[in-house]
Amino acid sequence: MFDNRITRLFGCEIPIMQAPMGYISRAQLASAVANAGAIGMIETSSGDLEAFRREVKLAQEWAPGKCLTANIAQAFVRDPSIVDFVVEQGVRFVTTSAGDPNRYTRQLKDAGLVVFHVVPTLRAALKAVDAGVDGLVVEGAEGGGFKNPRDVATMVLLPLVASKVDVPIIAAGGFVDGATMAAAFALGAEGVQMGTRMVASAESPIHENWKQAIVDAAETGTVLLNRHAAPAVRVLRTEVSEAYEFDTGRNAMGAMADHRRVYFEGDLTAGLAFGGQVAGRIDRVRPVAEVIRECADDCLRVIADLAVRYPPSPSPSPEEPDQAATHGASTSAKVGEPSSRSS
Ligand SMILES: Cc1cc2nc3c(=O)[nH]c(=O)nc-3n(C[C@H](O)[C@H](O)[C@H](O)COP(=O)(O)O)c2cc1C
Repeated sequence: MFDNRITRLFGCEIPIMQAPMGYISRAQLASAVANAGAIGMIETSSGDLEAFRREVKLAQEWAPGKCLTANIAQAFVRDPSIVDFVVEQGVRFVTTSAGDPNRYTRQLKDAGLVVFHVVPTLRAALKAVDAGVDGLVVEGAEGGGFKNPRDVATMVLLPLVASKVDVPIIAAGGFVDGATMAAAFALGAEGVQMGTRMVASAESPIHENWKQAIVDAAETGTVLLNRHAAPAVRVLRTEVSEAYEFDTGRNAMGAMADHRRVYFEGDLTAGLAFGGQVAGRIDRVRPVAEVIRECADDCLRVIADLAVRYPPSPSPSPEEPDQAATHGASTSAKVGEPSSRSS
């Protein structure tokens, strides 16, 4: 279905990557995603490496031979032995995030792993490519979780980065169905990463109240906190998060102390519930296999429909004068044709 650099590199059928999310991206969710032909992910941002070892092992048992990756959230896992630790678990694909790509890329590559780095800006993307990564996860500000305080939307960031780099790109921030996946392809990506959609899935291990809060949220139902402090973070709009929204005197991470009550007891008054703007487009909790299959089918359908509705104008044969030249270049470039790299 999707023969491109992401499916070839990761050895998966469908270029959908489940996002790294602390305490959430563990064996139950990752194995369901991998068994659906996509890319499952195990997190380290909880900082619990024993849990990481256990969850990788479980996921490998539950999804034998399928595509499983790990995320090294550099701001949360400071112990440099994390690289050897990840390699020892038999993980072959890693995304690194929340830190300098020069920190682990060489070591991971020397150990034979495929390395993608998560980037929120063009500058970070160029730095990661210089560090020798195999690819990028280009993350727009509409996504849930940790964010760059200088927020750039996916619609702007993705085509910009795609026009400046040659490595394969997985787009993140706002992806939830076949149409958005097709849009990512049109903007230069070859895969998408989904966070919020996966949080509100049947296999996501968190409490139903959080999943329901995502289902109930409108597109305006998130706030980007900590623009004034690090790390900035996009969370669901609740009484707790609204209290921090315009309060630059406090660091919102202070509200994360009791995350277990939020994550596993469903008490959304006890802290922050991460979530992206795409929550406004999620209307029910669904099994990931259903989500992934439907995204894949709909994505190909959208692309096929567009090709039928907007067939590229036939390029003039050498004898005929170039219509475009006579009528001004912009017409033919309006539909379908990808922009050249250095636009
Ligand atoms: C509940 C939640 C927790 C997250 N935790 C992390 C994390 O620990 N590390 C990280 O790099 N990104 C984290 N993210 C960001 C995701 O990796 C991803 O980039 C983002 O969710 C994509 O946007 P979307 O939510 O619109 O799909 C989190 C996102 C959510 C929704």
